[in-house]
Amino acid sequence: MVKSLRGMNDILSEDSDKFQHIIETASRIAKNYGFKFIETPLVEETALFKRSVGESSDIVGKEMYQFVDKGGSDISLRPEGTAGVVRAFIEHKLDKKADREKFFYYGSMFRYERPQKGRLRLFHQFGCESFGESSSFEDVSIILMAKEIFDNLGISTKLKINSLGCDKCFPDYKNELSNFLIDKKEKLCSDCHRRIETNPIRTLDCKVESCKHELINSPKIKDCLCDECDIEFDRVKRLFDEKNIKYEIDSNLVRGLDYYSRTAFEFVSNEIGSQNAVAGGGRYDRLVEYLGGKSTPAVGFALGIERILDLVKLPEKEQNGYYFGTLDENYLEKLYILASKKREVSRVHIEYKTRSLASHITNALKKGYKYCAVLGSDEVANGTIWVKDLEAKFEEHLSQDSF
Ligand code: HAM
Repeated sequence: MVKSLRGMNDILSEDSDKFQHIIETASRIAKNYGFKFIETPLVEETALFKRSVGESSDIVGKEMYQFVDKGGSDISLRPEGTAGVVRAFIEHKLDKKADREKFFYYGSMFRYERPQKGRLRLFHQFGCESFGESSSFEDVSIILMAKEIFDNLGISTKLKINSLGCDKCFPDYKNELSNFLIDKKEKLCSDCHRRIETNPIRTLDCKVESCKHELINSPKIKDCLCDECDIEFDRVKRLFDEKNIKYEIDSNLVRGLDYYSRTAFEFVSNEIGSQNAVAGGGRYDRLVEYLGGKSTPAVGFALGIERILDLVKLPEKEQNGYYFGTLDENYLEKLYILASKKREVSRVHIEYKTRSLASHITNALKKGYKYCAVLGSDEVANGTIWVKDLEAKFEEHLSQDSF
């Protein structure tokens, strides 16, 4: 039997209801914050991800679905959404306009990771990207929006924040950390040896217990921030304090992608096991220029849909729509015409199997319809249809012409 690929799942039954509920809820809230929907291709030039996510990241270094197409182009399935949105932002010359632009998106992302609970090779993200605002009010706004999405979905999360500094202060921090790491080198894993050469801050994210232990006393970026970054980070914290939003400052929160500067954040849940990050994001003020556009500050986040499927509480099923059935096969055609007309204004299910009235009612309730409309011989003779409101438990005969 042919099976789906490892780490790539079908989403169906109750999960697909939850999946749609997540997208609808998140899209509604993003629109309230002024974001517009954007759709970008699932496949892009590999160079785009190498330049944006970064060659030193595990995502690009180890996890890309990368191949050469029939025309000889080096292309990759997108491992995340930000790079494609930034590419589109530049390609459509939106960087040349003075306006702020805000986009939301959702869709499949691909990372060739070792599959485990919460870690898939094909997964789905809902994400938002805001361009053109350098003030940290926008960082706070984006974080509050993500929180509002989780709150609306009935999911409790913990917010972790950090500042990754800027071009002015980050290089000094990187040097200080490198020196610390070189002294500890013998005690670190082989991946960290490589990280010391390519991008030392990746070591702070190492999952190997002995490395974590060695890094407890590593230099902390918060002690190396320049005045400007310090002021902005203080403002972010102050705004959260004023709004009574709880957060934890995590100096080891460096994110797995290279494009961030200043505010970085993650939402975690302690109800889903070790892969507990349900959303992540931050500011990426250098990326637009780095990819060839006009320098534009930007901030965004993405949430992992599969990670929250088990946590989402679906709202009580809203019953609506019409279930149509008949007691006699000969009236099916008449029933079909009436039901098709109703479909222009309402959700409709047509039951082609002849059943008893009681069985039609049970079936309509099971399928979640509010009205059960049934044609029998009396109704056909009188030009009516029997309709029951299953919620109000009220029934009547209505004229077929006006129905
Ligand atoms: P990320 O932290 O790599 O950030 O991914 C965002 C979320 O996607 C994670 O918090 C997690 O919930 C989910 N996720 C990541 N990898 C997997 C996986 N293998 N299986 C299941 N879920 C996963 C980004 O992708 C950035 N583009 C976010 C961003 C937008 N930053 C600025 N704008």
